Amino acid sequence: MEVPFLDLRVQNRALKTEILPLWEEILDLAGFIGGKHVNALEEEFASACSVNHCVAVNSGTDALRFIFLALGLEPGDEIITVPNTFIATTEAISQAGGKIAFVDVDPGTYNMDPAMIETAITPKTRGIVPVHLYGQPADMDSILTIADKHGLWVVEDACQAHLAEYKGRKAGSMGVAAAFSFYPGKNMGACGEGGAVTTNDADLAAKVCMLRDHGQSSKYYHEMEGYNGRCDALQAAVLRIKLKHLPAWNEARRKNAKRYFELLHETDGIILPRIQENSTPVFHLFVIQVDKRDMVQEALRKVGVQTGLHYPVPLHLQKAYEYMGLPLGSFPMAETCARKLLSLPMFPELTEEQIAWVSGNLKKIVTER
Ligand SMILES: Cc1ncc(COP(=O)(O)O)c(C=O)c1O
Repeated sequence: MEVPFLDLRVQNRALKTEILPLWEEILDLAGFIGGKHVNALEEEFASACSVNHCVAVNSGTDALRFIFLALGLEPGDEIITVPNTFIATTEAISQAGGKIAFVDVDPGTYNMDPAMIETAITPKTRGIVPVHLYGQPADMDSILTIADKHGLWVVEDACQAHLAEYKGRKAGSMGVAAAFSFYPGKNMGACGEGGAVTTNDADLAAKVCMLRDHGQSSKYYHEMEGYNGRCDALQAAVLRIKLKHLPAWNEARRKNAKRYFELLHETDGIILPRIQENSTPVFHLFVIQVDKRDMVQEALRKVGVQTGLHYPVPLHLQKAYEYMGLPLGSFPMAETCARKLLSLPMFPELTEEQIAWVSGNLKKIVTER
């Protein structure tokens, strides 16, 4: 049986009849940048995330970069984040003039380990950026308490966690601001690039609005230098349609995850993720830990199962961050994640048979190894 890691075509086929009339209308009106769909998406996504403001931008990377720029980093300001995330998290910190400070992750959830944060705080620390990795919210109460104690802001990287919840609060509503990605493979993905900033801070939202549009306060009046980071109408129209389906898709992902948990639990050689108490993850990815991971991945490939690695090299060991001088051993858990984590197929339309095929073969491979 063939089991793709992710199959966007099923969703595209199902939504075609909803998407095409809106795209036709946009083509006829030739209003491609901003406009009613972008405005409506901002209102609808803000409401879905339980925040007062949403600013739609061109990508999750722009969302992060604009938040850090709007917060006004001074050279040398240090921002604490994790080494097992996509590089966009740290690119945005550097590109906004900040200095990256890594802390290790929790061995069960793979999210920022709050116990490590205080060891990284210095007089130059300005903020903390937890990443709700794989769609599971980080331990926000502990992180917010530490931030409060030290007078730091918290920005959530919620790029993988659309509508995830932590103790009844929505991802994207707990820090001073949050970044979302609408990259096609995300739980709510555009048919191209897209992203959003959510916040309850009206001034911050207004700054992000200017930053995404060349620093303009009104046409050709520039308060500052900004960027070309706007959201386009074709993407906004698709995203509005997808937002309506998102709760059901997230529920389907949770059901798929539950099935993986049932079929794989107590299997020697497979470590399943720990779900944070009182949280409702959205399983952007379903990751397990296995020894000899690359061999297991290859064996699964031979029986038709595509898997992924998120992420094979922790950021502190990337060439891009060689200058930080952080050798192997600096963040043992993040390094274990890079060596052992394997992402199994996960998308809403995954069938019961496909999950059984993946799980059955995985168990066989791991026990026969
Ligand atoms: C954790 C994380 N942060 C940031 C990003 C950047 O988002 P984008 O690809 O939309 O720029 C992504 C997605 O790729 C991500 O997974």
